[in-house]
Amino acid sequence: MKAVAAFDPAVARAGFPALERRVAGKKLIYLDNACTALKSSRVAASLAEAHELWGACGGRRSTHLLAQEIEQRYQSARKSVARFLNAEREGDVVFTSGTTEAVNLVARGFVFDGARREVVVGAWEHNSVLLPFLEAEARGACAVRVCPVKDGRLDLDALEGLITDKTALVALARSSNVLGGVLPAAQVGRLCRRKGAKLFLDDAQFLSSHREDVRACGADFVAFSAHKLGGPFGVGVLWGEDRAMNALRPAAPGGGTVKEVVLEGGRPVPRWLDSPMRHEAGVPNIPGAVGLAAAIELLGSWDPGAARAHVSGLVERLLAGLGKVSEVAVVGDPAALMEGSLAAFAPVHPSFSIKDFNLYLNHELGERFVAVRAGDHCAHLLHASLGLKETLRVSFFAYNTAEEVDLFLDALKSYAAEARS
Ligand SMILES: Cc1ncc(COP(=O)(O)O)c(C=O)c1O
Repeated sequence: MKAVAAFDPAVARAGFPALERRVAGKKLIYLDNACTALKSSRVAASLAEAHELWGACGGRRSTHLLAQEIEQRYQSARKSVARFLNAEREGDVVFTSGTTEAVNLVARGFVFDGARREVVVGAWEHNSVLLPFLEAEARGACAVRVCPVKDGRLDLDALEGLITDKTALVALARSSNVLGGVLPAAQVGRLCRRKGAKLFLDDAQFLSSHREDVRACGADFVAFSAHKLGGPFGVGVLWGEDRAMNALRPAAPGGGTVKEVVLEGGRPVPRWLDSPMRHEAGVPNIPGAVGLAAAIELLGSWDPGAARAHVSGLVERLLAGLGKVSEVAVVGDPAALMEGSLAAFAPVHPSFSIKDFNLYLNHELGERFVAVRAGDHCAHLLHASLGLKETLRVSFFAYNTAEEVDLFLDALKSYAAEARS
């Protein structure tokens, strides 16, 4: 086996000033990265520069020299994303406002034909994947089928049974925001192709510590959000090859999406541009795209195997510590969680309250506070199917350290001891 070089989180931390912040006089321990990762100075500087120097009309509207320079920066950001995903063509990258908008473009734009109108989703889907398809079902466009979760992973045997000649689309998280794991996408892609269905992968939780290869993963569509990679808020990506992308109806049309509008019998008829333009309506978020490219550049400066091993080590340490606290139970399968960058747990002792423990993490740790996420993590269906109302989730980025894990575990042990007594 190839040895993995050690990853030094101290080097990564140096680029993230928020890690040194105090809030209400307390030092931040940030373990809420699955919600959003902190933003680096590099990303902040690229955003500031884009606003200061290129805050003018770009996006293929005006043709003056400044507009051309802005457009060049925008297209160069598209190239960075294409390289990041190992996409064949940069034109297959559509900038969106995030994963949520990307899913909506597919759910609203997909043309379902009469006999093939089922969409299969997983019981672990984030609401941003589940709800757009339930909405499409409610307006009569498709019928949604849900693949259950078994032993902390998507039940692949059940999935195989659910993908039939009636399946138009299979939409799944590549990694769950509660259960971690890595979906064997190539295998699922083969199942889909055998039945003539398309595969959509939600990479929102995958890309902070894994690399996607869209040429090998078997997907027709891949979506992710910049902010979960340390990039800016309000920007994300929908990737798909031109045939699949041009087969989507423009679901959020507007300025910049048409070649022309002609009059036919006195009626205006749009002539749509090809993707990516047909899916990028309105003046684009150019600073966002440039900031995303800066975030990708930073991720690319770390050895991906070493950074991944570091995050996996943090999850392992967390799981080992959680296993010693009998008042709580980890949700999911440890092996799957180790593939991701997070772990969630639920109380099993009647006096252990998630809400109360969350307050404890904020107010009872002296000089520090720990930021985690308590709730359903927008995975209502998963929580309902597990019979849980809420869980507490600890999630990592490459800048987190073993000391931070230990600090969280010490706090948990102290709180659990109080709850017991
Ligand atoms: C698995 C998963 N998919 C999709 C999303 C939605 O991402 P965004 O809110 O950036 O659109 C999230 C956000 O937490 C997520 O965890």
